Amino acid sequence: MLHVSEVTRHFSTGAGQVKAVDGVSFDVETGTFCAIVGRSGSGKSTLLALLGALDSPTSGSIHLDGVDVAGLSARKQVIYRRDRIGFVFQNYHLVSNLSAIGNVMLPMEFAGASRSQRREHAVSLLDRVGLHGDKQDRLPGKLSGGEQQRVSIARALANQPALILADEPTGNLDSRNSKRIVSLLRQLVEEGTTVIVVTHDRGLAAKTDLTLSMKDGQIVHRQAKV
Ligand SMILES: Nc1ncnc2c1ncn2[C@@H]1O[C@H](COP(=O)(O)OP(=O)(O)O)[C@@H](O)[C@H]1O
Ligand SMILES: [Mg+2]
Repeated sequence: MLHVSEVTRHFSTGAGQVKAVDGVSFDVETGTFCAIVGRSGSGKSTLLALLGALDSPTSGSIHLDGVDVAGLSARKQVIYRRDRIGFVFQNYHLVSNLSAIGNVMLPMEFAGASRSQRREHAVSLLDRVGLHGDKQDRLPGKLSGGEQQRVSIARALANQPALILADEPTGNLDSRNSKRIVSLLRQLVEEGTTVIVVTHDRGLAAKTDLTLSMKDGQIVHRQAKV
């Protein structure tokens, strides 16, 4: 269960204070597929960064399965991100000089497994997202956008995260590849992972269980589907 209570994130800028996230409260049950929608600048990415402990709120509290995320020290934030969160980004954020397998192995470095065990696990995750055979040995630049996004999802799954945070995961993909990514995320939800996506993609938002609409840093609409 993700519990977000009265969270704000204010930035001081030359032009004054920006209330990027301005008093947001919501709950997301474990195993829910949740979309965050809203215009550019409405605070979606800032909120996602707070949920993933990439950033800390100005005020308010965030609890994931009872852990006080907003109260973690910088060192514990790193561990929280590594062990509990899987991040997926619009631009994939893969390491360009590592193969698909190498990218998926990266987050496993601290898990205490041997190199061959990590490699075996990476291969099974890539198989699971539908990237097979010699494609697993390719550099990201030799894969299509849809394939790169599947690698990034495999990497996000490396440490069995409780929560997957995806910022515009289909933003650079054509409709066929988008559908494939959406059905993959849905499958993870069916297996019990909580997935929160920021998206402009109506097709994606329609497939989720819960839609939170943001405007000017606030959640102005909450729609749960039955
Ligand atoms: N590091 C920052 N410093 C100053 N302002 C920021 C920073 N990050 C985001 N903002 C501002 O906060 C608001 C929300 O941004 P963002 O969360 O990126 O929106 P979205 O993802 O919905 O497009 C915008 O007005 C943006 O300019
Ligand atoms: Mg954004």
